Amino acid sequence: MRFHVLTLFPDAFRFIADYSVLGRAIQHGLLSVTATDIRQFATDRHGTADDYQFGGGPGMVMKPEPVFAAVDAARETLPASQRERTPIILTSPQGRTLNQEMVNEFAAAPGLVIICGHYAGVDERIRQGLVTHEVSIGDYVLTGGELAAMVIIDAVSRFVPEVVGSEENVREDSITSGLLQHPLYTRPAEFRGMNTPDVLRSGNHAEIERWRRRQSLERTLRLRPDLLATASLTNSDRVFLAGLGWPGDGP
Ligand SMILES: C[S@@+](CC[C@H](N)C(=O)[O-])C[C@H]1O[C@@H](n2cnc3c(N)ncnc32)[C@H](O)[C@@H]1O
Repeated sequence: MRFHVLTLFPDAFRFIADYSVLGRAIQHGLLSVTATDIRQFATDRHGTADDYQFGGGPGMVMKPEPVFAAVDAARETLPASQRERTPIILTSPQGRTLNQEMVNEFAAAPGLVIICGHYAGVDERIRQGLVTHEVSIGDYVLTGGELAAMVIIDAVSRFVPEVVGSEENVREDSITSGLLQHPLYTRPAEFRGMNTPDVLRSGNHAEIERWRRRQSLERTLRLRPDLLATASLTNSDRVFLAGLGWPGDGP
C-alpha cells in the first residue's frame, strides 16, 4: 500500500516512519509513506505555496498550481493501471467524517494520495479539479491536515495484510467487529484490590467466549447502543440484550 502525502510540513511524517507497528511495516516493505513538500512545486523561486484571499479575510490560502503539480507528480509514480483507482483525498473539516466503511474502501485501493491543508485552507479549485474524497476526522478544526492524514494512514494500514500481527486482532476490535470489545486483562491476576474475572483463568474456552461475548454486548448497549442496530447478532445475543432492557432494533 503506497501513501503519498502532500504537505507543507513533510518532517511531521517521520513520526509514522519511526513508530512502532507502522514503522515496522514500512521497514518490511508492506507500506510506503512518501511525504512530499508542496513548496517544491511552487512556480516562483521563493517556494510560495500560499497567498492572500481574494475578497479579503483572515488567513492565507494554499495556492492551486503547486498542489495540482504535486498531485500530478505523485500520480506519475503510480503504475498506469493504478492511477484511476487511487483516491485523491483532501483532509478537511468540511469532509465526510472518517468511519470504518471509508477505511475499508481506502484499504481496498492500491494507494492513497492525501493532501494536507494548512492556514485558512485550500483554493476551491483543488476541490473542484483534483479531489475524489474530502475527509474529516471529526467535528473540530485542526491547524493543519497532517494529523488527519496520519489518522487516515494509521487506520487504513491496519487492514493491509500482515501489518498487524494477527488478522483476528483486527476483526475483533471495537467498531470493526460491529460491537465494542470485551474488557482485556493481563498479569497480575490481582492488582490494588482489583481482581481479574475467574473465568478468564479457568481454561474453559467455551465459557471464556461466552463471557466475552456477553461483556461485549453489555458494554455496547451501555456505551454505544446505536451500534446494535447494524451489528450482526444471534438469537441468543438478542435474548441476552432483551434481558438487559434493550428494546430491540425495530420490526
Ligand atoms: C484551520 S483548517 C482550515 C479550516 C477552513 N477554514 C474551514 O473552515 O473549512 C486548516 C487545515 O487543517 C485541516 N483540518 C482541520 N480540521 C480538520 C478535520 N477535522 N479533519 C481533517 N482535516 C482537518 C485541513 O486540511 C484544513 O485545510
